[in-house]
Amino acid sequence: MWKREHGDSQFTQMVDAQLTRRRFITGTGAASAGVFLAANPIASAMASSQSPLLNFEPIPASTSDNFIVPKGYTATPLLAWGDPIFPSAPEFSQDGQQDSKAQSQQFGDNTDGMNFFAISSTRAVLAINNEYTNYEYLFAHQGKQMTADDVKKAQAAHGVTIVEIELVDGQWKVDKQGMRNRRITANTPMTITGVAAGHTLLKTSADPTGTKALGTFNNCANGQTPWGTYLTCEENFHGYFGSDSSAELTEDHARYGVKTGDTRYQWHKSDPRFDVAKNPQEPNRHGWVVEIDPNDPKSTPLKRTALGRFKHENAALHVNSDGHVVVYLGDDERGEHLYKFVSKNRYQQGNDSANRELLEEGTLYVAKFSMDENALQGSGEWLELTYGKNGLTKDNGFNDQAEVMIFARRAATVVGATTMDRPEWVAVHPKGQHVFCTLTNNKNRGVKENQPVGGPNPRAENHYGQIVRWMPTNNDHTSDSFKWDLYVIAGNPTVHEGNLYGGSPNVNANNMFNSPDGIGFDQDARLWIQTDGNYSNEGDFAGQGNNQMLCGDPISGEIKRFATGPIACEITGLAFSSDSTAMFVGVQHPGERGAPSHFPQGGSTKPRSTVMVVTRDDGGIIGA
Ligand code: FEO
Ligand code: CA
Ligand code: CA
Repeated sequence: MWKREHGDSQFTQMVDAQLTRRRFITGTGAASAGVFLAANPIASAMASSQSPLLNFEPIPASTSDNFIVPKGYTATPLLAWGDPIFPSAPEFSQDGQQDSKAQSQQFGDNTDGMNFFAISSTRAVLAINNEYTNYEYLFAHQGKQMTADDVKKAQAAHGVTIVEIELVDGQWKVDKQGMRNRRITANTPMTITGVAAGHTLLKTSADPTGTKALGTFNNCANGQTPWGTYLTCEENFHGYFGSDSSAELTEDHARYGVKTGDTRYQWHKSDPRFDVAKNPQEPNRHGWVVEIDPNDPKSTPLKRTALGRFKHENAALHVNSDGHVVVYLGDDERGEHLYKFVSKNRYQQGNDSANRELLEEGTLYVAKFSMDENALQGSGEWLELTYGKNGLTKDNGFNDQAEVMIFARRAATVVGATTMDRPEWVAVHPKGQHVFCTLTNNKNRGVKENQPVGGPNPRAENHYGQIVRWMPTNNDHTSDSFKWDLYVIAGNPTVHEGNLYGGSPNVNANNMFNSPDGIGFDQDARLWIQTDGNYSNEGDFAGQGNNQMLCGDPISGEIKRFATGPIACEITGLAFSSDSTAMFVGVQHPGERGAPSHFPQGGSTKPRSTVMVVTRDDGGIIGA
């Protein structure tokens, strides 16, 4: 985001000139951009600006195998893949020999979104997603000789881990004795609720009711409700379905990426539920937001169909001033969409048994962006996805509201939603006036016909990503309209001078990054940004180093680097203790694809996805 009042008319004019060309230059053709962005007045202003929100010494980019935080801070591993979470669970074994039973009693793999639920000032529950698993580390055979138990073990490495933590001598530690500790896996019984529950399209031979699904997997990011539940979001569920037989699949299967053939996980080989030729409707039971009570280990997780089915990233919940609960939802795939759910009923302070029904019924919308002439900002509208409206009729292939939710992507296309550069996390400013969404990257932008360059997706073959920010009309999140601008356009100003691939003026050689993914606010409205990008540190990414975490002032646009991760990781997952003196951050897949990481234990150990806890040496608020 750059502010016009900073005197950036030259920048704006150059943006304008480019926009009228409809297609920006690609990474290799930067020279043709001429003087575009040659002068970057905001970047120099930013270098000297000092947001009172960002009161820490920023750190340089890193290629080391460590998790590095600013001077005066300490980061400590809290929980790593394979750590036992019950008293009887075995310790992690380096040799990859532990079985499915062991894995089902240990922290799952690939830590992702998480939330902190306070029990007292010294005790809390962490609910943490375990998105997927890396066979090269999970199995001694690296996935080359999968047995039936290996499939079960992989399924147990997925899902959600719920674990109690306690503050002992100023340090948060896992309590293996915690009565709330629980593993939710790809085989945990769940109830399908809401408008699509029981629909014909959700029935399978194992569940003729269409209401009882098994498990959750590829749980990417998350959300937290004010009534004390955890929302876990099912993202790339399609990748677990395959078949050794051929089968006629539908266009809807294709739209969600479900295919026959082999898969990297090979679950269909010993678990027929994942054989899409045998169970073509099983994929319809995945791709939802799941609501979990982290305080009741016996509770049944609820798949909330009113929030639509797509490749969910997170669920950013905001209680609107009129009490309606609004949930912003990204669908992370190239050219997919950004959604908003508005509850039918209103939040009632102190009446959580009623509040627990709020995600059961409501209206889903999808975003359409319009661009002001010659400016990277504009207005937008939320298009309702309700059967019978906006062309969602039998003539267009929809038979009822359940089908609109099950095939929300198709419905979004029918109503004319804007295709986006992979919407990842959404975060609502604590005071509610702005909403931010990371658009991580999109190599298809300007290449595929349905993904033209323009609006909040201003670059062809976008390999750096950007963050769009919008303001609902009258600060009312149930409003059908909003204004938007771009908070930051990530880029590399040391490689691309004079064009949008060098980034917006709040990006400079000292804070540059690519592929923003996780974002979230702390209680003081610092905007924390986590990256899942190219960590080659070469070419277009030279000088950007490993994936990292930054902190931004959501209004001024100043951004500083706060943390850097180990080799070949992604930084994802963010939670704070109630007093904000501890920040929990996820380090996912260090050593991905065999890269030489031994994080967090060092030596010759296996790299392991790890939740880090960051504290300030003087006990103060993180970032302040
Ligand atoms: Fe699991 Fe879109 O990241
Ligand atoms: Ca992500
Ligand atoms: Ca990502």
